[in-house]
Amino acid sequence: MAEAPPAGRRIRKAVFPVAGLGTRFLPATKTVPKEMLPIIDRPLIQYAVDEAIEAGCDTLVFVTNRYKHAVADYFDKAYELEQKLERAGKTEQLELVRHVLPEGVRAVFVTQAEALGLGHAVLCARPVIGDEPFAVLLPDDLIWNRGPGALKQMADAAQASGASVIATQDVPRAQTGSYGIVATDDFRGRQGRITAMVEKPDPASAPSTLAVVGRYVLSPRIFDLLEATAPGAGGEIQLTDAISALLREQPVLAYRFQGTRFDCGTHIGLVEATIRYALDHEVLSDAARQMMQSALGEMGVVDQE
Ligand code: G1P
Repeated sequence: MAEAPPAGRRIRKAVFPVAGLGTRFLPATKTVPKEMLPIIDRPLIQYAVDEAIEAGCDTLVFVTNRYKHAVADYFDKAYELEQKLERAGKTEQLELVRHVLPEGVRAVFVTQAEALGLGHAVLCARPVIGDEPFAVLLPDDLIWNRGPGALKQMADAAQASGASVIATQDVPRAQTGSYGIVATDDFRGRQGRITAMVEKPDPASAPSTLAVVGRYVLSPRIFDLLEATAPGAGGEIQLTDAISALLREQPVLAYRFQGTRFDCGTHIGLVEATIRYALDHEVLSDAARQMMQSALGEMGVVDQE
């Protein structure tokens, strides 16, 4: 009988790289970091944070830059606002404001002094992570699922296998240039061992159409490899390049998670996510459906003219 793989440690810490400039969403991102753009009434960062907490994380490390006070302010206590809501007897809203983070979960802020790339941002979290497996979540990638969140699925797979685990999904070949792309051994169920990984390849030379989505469970060995990683695609220190080195030493699994991913780093992705969350919303759903139907109807009439 085959030996059971060594079980890994459960992840407890999650890194959120939030130091990007968000230029695609200018002028909004002149003052509002893109991670604070809302889907209905919650900022993107809140969805990623909730997913990490659901997966078992109790230490959240935000890698920010010196202009991004809004993210830190959001997770800080809002004394004046809480007092006002309390005095006004607005208990429901007070709970919302107070429970941005649940009891027992702590937020740590680390500054990335220079925008040297995603790999560099993750490396900035090293002093807080230390020597244990950890998660990285890119809040731009919003993943919706009725069942367990994507990171929980991956954390379970990582714990069971002792391997690093990277979220992946199939994309049209024409889009490989926007993603990290992996080559893998055959899949067993949702996971397959990664044999190669390349950042943003041309569609003609991409090793497959299986793209990396912004959720990673990584071995702490990645930090030494990041230290040794030279600037790659776009002149940036790429997480993908360090993972390429990691998979030569340790198993790294591609994981086809269950759920729908919205690329909220693009205008259309943010619109799509808003529509889907509105349609699934317990209060807004009916109104949203009717509004969309009548909007489509009216536009149809206009188109025929
Ligand atoms: C980053 C990663 C890329 C990954 C993508 C997922 O790219 O470098 O490998 O596929 O996130 O969203 P970015 O979108 O930051 O350019």
